[in-house]
Amino acid sequence: MSAAPSPTKRIAVIPGDGVGKEVIAEAVRVLKAATAVSGRALELTELDWGADRFLRDGTTLPEGGEQMLRDKFDAVLLGAMGDPRVPSNKHAADILLGLRFKLDLYVNARPVELLDAKLTPLRDRTPRDVNFMVFRENTEGLYVGVGGIFKKGTHDEIALQEDVNTRKGVERIIRHAFEYARHNKLTRVCMSDKSNALNFAHDLWQRVFADIRKEYAEIESRHLYIDALAMEVVRDPSQFQVIVTCNLFGDIISDLGAQLAGGMGMAPSGNIHPGKISIFEPVHGSAPNIAGKNLANPIASVLAAAMMLEHIGWPQEAASLRGAVRASVAAHQTTHDVGGHLGTREAGQWMADWVTKSGITHT
Ligand code: IPM
Ligand code: MG
Repeated sequence: MSAAPSPTKRIAVIPGDGVGKEVIAEAVRVLKAATAVSGRALELTELDWGADRFLRDGTTLPEGGEQMLRDKFDAVLLGAMGDPRVPSNKHAADILLGLRFKLDLYVNARPVELLDAKLTPLRDRTPRDVNFMVFRENTEGLYVGVGGIFKKGTHDEIALQEDVNTRKGVERIIRHAFEYARHNKLTRVCMSDKSNALNFAHDLWQRVFADIRKEYAEIESRHLYIDALAMEVVRDPSQFQVIVTCNLFGDIISDLGAQLAGGMGMAPSGNIHPGKISIFEPVHGSAPNIAGKNLANPIASVLAAAMMLEHIGWPQEAASLRGAVRASVAAHQTTHDVGGHLGTREAGQWMADWVTKSGITHT
């Protein structure tokens, strides 16, 4: 018996800048193919937030934009922010970082999953070895923008950037990592910080971690300093299942992870507040050097869309998108960065066709 049709979900689509526009168009194409075969409805509304709008009328994140997203949408699919015409990157900071803070999207989930051994730069590693989740704290740390510059431009100049860590903030991301492990029957969680040097901020991480790990006795929990983690992830990625760390270290380790799984073209992410409106985006940026050339890999965006479908409670559609990605990699029907010969549009079309051909059954 098939499940009762679920109500239409409303998705805000923010292509943003550069290749964001191209890869999101393909993610939307694959999403539309999935809803066409599953019989469920997505209402997609495109928002023009990004560099073009900023240069036209000065708007970055429109007044009340975050409340509008909360009121009118179930999730957001975002491309990339960043444009050489806006060297200050002000629009990107206001929109991307602004939404992470204002919507309190404290979990930045960045899965690292190698789909095919040929995609990793590591020797003799297979998909079994490279499969872990990075949880990056997403609302605090060095990203809060607290600080200042004194005596700017002089030899006596002082630049301060505060690292803000709250007990509540540290606790909820570490707890999320353990809950995710428990829920997915994973047995290993690694917390990473730099408490040997950052003796206030990361002392808090140490103490909170020590408290929370006790509640998850069935999970093997471990700590590594971030420099050691960077080394270990390359030396033997198979030891990791769940990594949890602060905002800045998570930014760095997730790019490293992306590279182990085929590069930035393959890496999706979710900026998540469990149970609330969340934003899904590829980890990569707007890549202005290849923008508009039909070169960017749409897979990261399709995988981000799959994470979004999971978040709104549509696991079968999510599985269909992931299936399309896997099939395209296996059949070499991809863009050049991962060994294929297709353009962005052709790779997106191939995945959409795969979804159409394969169908989706609700059980
Ligand atoms: C990311 C990006 C952003 C970040 C930049 C664009 C501010 O690198 O999402 O990883 O550092 O969070
Ligand atoms: Mg980054």
